Amino acid sequence: MRVLLTGGAGFIGTHVHAQLLAEGHEVTVLDSFRPDVHANRPEPRPGLIVGDVRDPRTFDGIDTVVHLAAKVGLGVHLDDIDDYVSSNSLGTAVLLKSLGTIRNLVYASSMVVYGEGRYDCPTHGQVAPGPRRTDDLDNGRFEPPCPYCGAPLEPGLVTEDAAPDPRNAYAASKLNGEHLAATWARETGGRVTALRFHNVYGPGMPRNTPYAGVAAIFRSALERGETPRVFEDGGQRRDFVHVRDIATAVTLSAAALPDQPAFTAYNVGSGTVTTIGEVAAELSQAYGGAPPIVTGEYRLGDVRHITASSDRLKHALGWKPAYDLSAGLTDLLGSAAG
Ligand code: UD1
Repeated sequence: MRVLLTGGAGFIGTHVHAQLLAEGHEVTVLDSFRPDVHANRPEPRPGLIVGDVRDPRTFDGIDTVVHLAAKVGLGVHLDDIDDYVSSNSLGTAVLLKSLGTIRNLVYASSMVVYGEGRYDCPTHGQVAPGPRRTDDLDNGRFEPPCPYCGAPLEPGLVTEDAAPDPRNAYAASKLNGEHLAATWARETGGRVTALRFHNVYGPGMPRNTPYAGVAAIFRSALERGETPRVFEDGGQRRDFVHVRDIATAVTLSAAALPDQPAFTAYNVGSGTVTTIGEVAAELSQAYGGAPPIVTGEYRLGDVRHITASSDRLKHALGWKPAYDLSAGLTDLLGSAAG
């Protein structure tokens, strides 16, 4: 393939770039080197365009686009809402408009499009819990109850056909990008695969930035000789997927595009449900640091549990994650930070 890789200098992009090259593909990276992510802006060189996806351009000699460029983060502050829309929604729109005769697109989406995960009530079956209430959280009631009877709910795995429920500007802009890409595919006869990444971790993970995920935050704390601080009661569930497994999901999806329908979404997670308390404990132990403390603090915008089934991707494309959490966290601890 002759691939245009947007966001190829970022955390995930760097690994996708390496994987594409290792598989023998030709790669052109388009990356803006946003100053809030990158300290330095390199000179353009062969195979690298330093530029913003929002600037219209033409792409010659490209048959497949992998669109990772985005403003990431929690997306909860209203101050940033226009930057999310501009960087992610408008950025995707301008890129789509610039694709010309290119017909193959992999779009980096996120589990965040679902909002809360799947929940089942013993009496009412599958239910959508209501918004989290500060009164509950302040009193240590972190599990969302059944909205009909108040009974405890059983968290489960989200599949791709679950209704999206984006809860912040980042989530809304990522879902909007999926919709725009699907529109492009219908209009042009192109094919788009949207990969809904779970919580990605691994070497090069950004840290000490507002965008740092919890695994990087815990690692930084341990390296400073501090105790990882686990919010809520530590029982919140996520699926941590290694960045190299993400890279193989991207390259497999890109190669499969010619045989795919106009629009397909795949969840991309390790398949292992983990609690934040377990991740903290595992990291502390692997590092030989102080055991984590559970603080009861919370971030109001957080969801309680979100875990997905990645079976569709495994069955359709034969993707198989190579890292289990323990090997992956050891890899994270042994690596340099991004
Ligand atoms: C992450 C992304 C978010 C994205 C979502 C879905 C970041 C920072 N977060 O959110 O933008 O929308 O995936 O793709 O990029 N926690 C602690 N201690 C800490 C920090 C966090 O216990 O010091 C807890 C949080 O309360 C949360 C969990 O760790 O329950 C995970 O936090 P985070 O890494 O931010 O991931 P998500 O909330 O899943």
